Amino acid sequence: MSVKVTSDLWWKNAVVYCLDVEMFYDNDGDGCGDLLGLTERVDYLAGLGVSVLWLMPFYPSPNRDDGYDITDFYAVDPALGTLGDFTELVRTCRDRGIRVIADFVMNHTSIEHPWFQAARSSPDSPYRDFYVWVDERPPEKPGDLVFPDAETSNWTFDRKAGQYYQHRFYKHQPDLNLANPAVRDELAQVMGFWLQQGLAGFRVDAVPFLIEGALDDPHQILRDLRAYVNRRAGDAVLLGEVNLPAEQVREFLGDEDGDELHMVLDFIGNQAFYLALARGSAAPLADALRSYPQVPPSASLGRFVRNHDELTLDKLSEEERAEVFARFGPDESLQLYGRGLRRRLPTMFDGDERALRMAYSLAFSLPGTPVLFYGEEIGMAENLEIEGRYAVRAPMQWAADGGFTLPGVSSRRPMVSGAFGPERVNVTDQRRDAGSLLNWFERLIRRRRECPELGFGALTVLDVGAESVFAHRVDWDDATIVAVHELSGKPVTVELPVEDGEALVDLFGDRSCSLPATLQLEPYGAHWFRVARSGVRLPP
Ligand code: NOJ
Repeated sequence: MSVKVTSDLWWKNAVVYCLDVEMFYDNDGDGCGDLLGLTERVDYLAGLGVSVLWLMPFYPSPNRDDGYDITDFYAVDPALGTLGDFTELVRTCRDRGIRVIADFVMNHTSIEHPWFQAARSSPDSPYRDFYVWVDERPPEKPGDLVFPDAETSNWTFDRKAGQYYQHRFYKHQPDLNLANPAVRDELAQVMGFWLQQGLAGFRVDAVPFLIEGALDDPHQILRDLRAYVNRRAGDAVLLGEVNLPAEQVREFLGDEDGDELHMVLDFIGNQAFYLALARGSAAPLADALRSYPQVPPSASLGRFVRNHDELTLDKLSEEERAEVFARFGPDESLQLYGRGLRRRLPTMFDGDERALRMAYSLAFSLPGTPVLFYGEEIGMAENLEIEGRYAVRAPMQWAADGGFTLPGVSSRRPMVSGAFGPERVNVTDQRRDAGSLLNWFERLIRRRRECPELGFGALTVLDVGAESVFAHRVDWDDATIVAVHELSGKPVTVELPVEDGEALVDLFGDRSCSLPATLQLEPYGAHWFRVARSGVRLPP
């Protein structure tokens, strides 16, 4: 294993932390988180050990889709701060060894964007062709609607324009027309602008919709963007949101050398992960990972447990989805769009910390790049009083009194209350408690960063003769990691395959096994081992 190669492909050994500036820390006491507040908390992130900060949209927006509806791609929402504040944040992060990436949302604009306002006003406007217009409403295909609770069509008639415009999401988010080269130029220019401000890359929103139907070969758009971005900033990264079947996702990573997105968020693995947890059985995850197509050596899969949207289960069969609903969210109020859940993990496991630690240990041990959503490190729950998907976007819980804003100020969204409220779940208390989830996460992240094998190596799922145990090894050159996770909450004994001359060294505890590696796993037990071989020195 050669650690020196890891810095060129840094995203393969990164730990990403995603947050909504508005919900993280309110510095000026207006109830809304801000860039200055986030900058105050950069040391917290550095202490946690994350290496990439992913900012959800922070651009000017009427906020009808929590900032994913943008009115100016070249500015900062004044409620969050100024471009100067942004630069200070990026600079402070860089000083603490953290790269910053941001949501890049150019599948659509807000309906209030000046481009759309100009476009609808006149067929002769240079912006008319920035959007997709038709005279007759095209027939809808089943499954076309992303938000079936709010929309009945992907086309809306605009009276001023006298035509229908396309919107894959809400009607207040008209789709940009990437068939128009001027729009593609603008896309590149927006990326170029933010790279110049110091960003290390982008989380690209809704990639399949973004490129859909634009050119005969829509993937050419991604190839061009990748080439452009890497000309402007050689080591910048594109992390795509591509929720499609695995074979199709693979196409978004490009050819064997990887000439499109550098990374994709792994929705397929995520959904199999929840089915495995719901059943207490390794098989669904094992099947999904075994059948996942090989990705280019320079590419990586973003491994998340929870993201900022509904926990979508749309790629499971109806029966499988029903199983996950039954185990983790039987009440309809916990579900969304018939396909997802609006809970975070701690409430799904009724606060059982053993299960939480096992789940994150497993996610971090799979080849790929771990992606955390703010608050996961302290076991934050959702607030179901907050509408729809936003239930998981409650204010960060810094202290027993909330600590998100100044005393007496109410935050833009209500804090979680009850058993998972800030009195019981907060950063300050957990920092003081050596055995807390937060301190455990810090160790997990440190271990993950010290194990580049997990970013660069190849996965083999192991059969250890116990249905409830997901066991795997990851090999990279002469280095091997073996990990074992018990998914059902029941004790079990397993035999790990260890070869002559090998020993397993526990990466978290004091357990070390030599032949035969018989392991008694406690309920939700989780272990990572490095394989020690004679003559090969192991890192500490
Ligand atoms: C995907 C984002 O994750 C989601 O939050 C947003 O609503 C849609 N894209 C539309 O931008």
